[in-house]
Amino acid sequence: MAAEVVELLGGRDAVLDMTVGAGGHAEALLESGVRRVVGLDRDPSAVRSARERLSKYGNRFEGILGRFSEPPAGPFDGVLYDLGVSSMQLDRPERGFGYRVDGPLDMRMGGDGPTAAELVNELPEQELARIVFEYGEERQSRRIARAIVRARARRPIETTDELAGVVAGAVGRRPGGAHPARRTFQALRIVVNRELEELTSSLPRAVGLLAPGGRVVVIAYHSLEDRIAKRFFLGEPSIRVLTKKPLRPKPEEIARNPRARSARLRAAELLPEAGELEGGSSPRAARRGSPRASGPPRSNREAAA
Ligand SMILES: C[S@@+](CC[C@H](N)C(=O)[O-])C[C@H]1O[C@@H](n2cnc3c(N)ncnc32)[C@H](O)[C@@H]1O
Repeated sequence: MAAEVVELLGGRDAVLDMTVGAGGHAEALLESGVRRVVGLDRDPSAVRSARERLSKYGNRFEGILGRFSEPPAGPFDGVLYDLGVSSMQLDRPERGFGYRVDGPLDMRMGGDGPTAAELVNELPEQELARIVFEYGEERQSRRIARAIVRARARRPIETTDELAGVVAGAVGRRPGGAHPARRTFQALRIVVNRELEELTSSLPRAVGLLAPGGRVVVIAYHSLEDRIAKRFFLGEPSIRVLTKKPLRPKPEEIARNPRARSARLRAAELLPEAGELEGGSSPRAARRGSPRASGPPRSNREAAA
């Protein structure tokens, strides 16, 4: 959704791209006249690729390795999240994200923490079922968890093909439907990378980094992340929501890039008077690192849900 991102953030002074990946959005922003883009990613190979691709912009681009729950210092006129995994990660078998390519069952974006194989081979059946249900929104989660536990009793599940086969065997394939392991893989990836916790703690910090009139843009690819962004935007008093309904990719974009089909973009803008608010999750409080800035939802956030 590069065109929509440029429409919302193009031409601004400084933008923080929280998920720079291969640098596609960062490049579009630099081309639109953004003076400086800081590109963050937790994946060292993404930061390397972005630095290489954007080296022609000299010091207008800076690539930084890190998680967006701990962003660099602001202020910025725009903050962008393009969540999830990149095509670069999905298509490299050795990263273990894809159910269509065989590789070790890894799924770590940053190479730290437990792998998907460790979760699949060590978690109790009930916990596996909960994860697959909650984070994969998979109705057949119990059946899948049972099949995993049976399979791993014979020998550990170590590759993406092995896991995809166990899941497909448990729930069957629907002709013409999505791959039967899609939701299970999504669930494991979310847990391995603590994706929902990352986003929940990052959004208040992002607002805290905004200069007056600054904008935050979130592109989500599944309803769990989209819901976190939606609720945060509705409950945050220092911002004005710019997208009453999320923007969806145009049919031409989906035809060019089928992975874009589930994208939903939400955007919000810091209110001019927000810099003067005290306490709560005001930008000032967030900049100071106030615990309330990233704390639990307040009652108006809950009402917005
Ligand atoms: C969909 S890709 C971004 C693609 C990018 N917009 C482009 O145009 O090439 C998402 C990227 O976000 C990174 N990422 C995911 N969660 C992150 C986090 N918590 N902190 C930093 N980077 C993260 C991933 O490693 C991946 O490279």
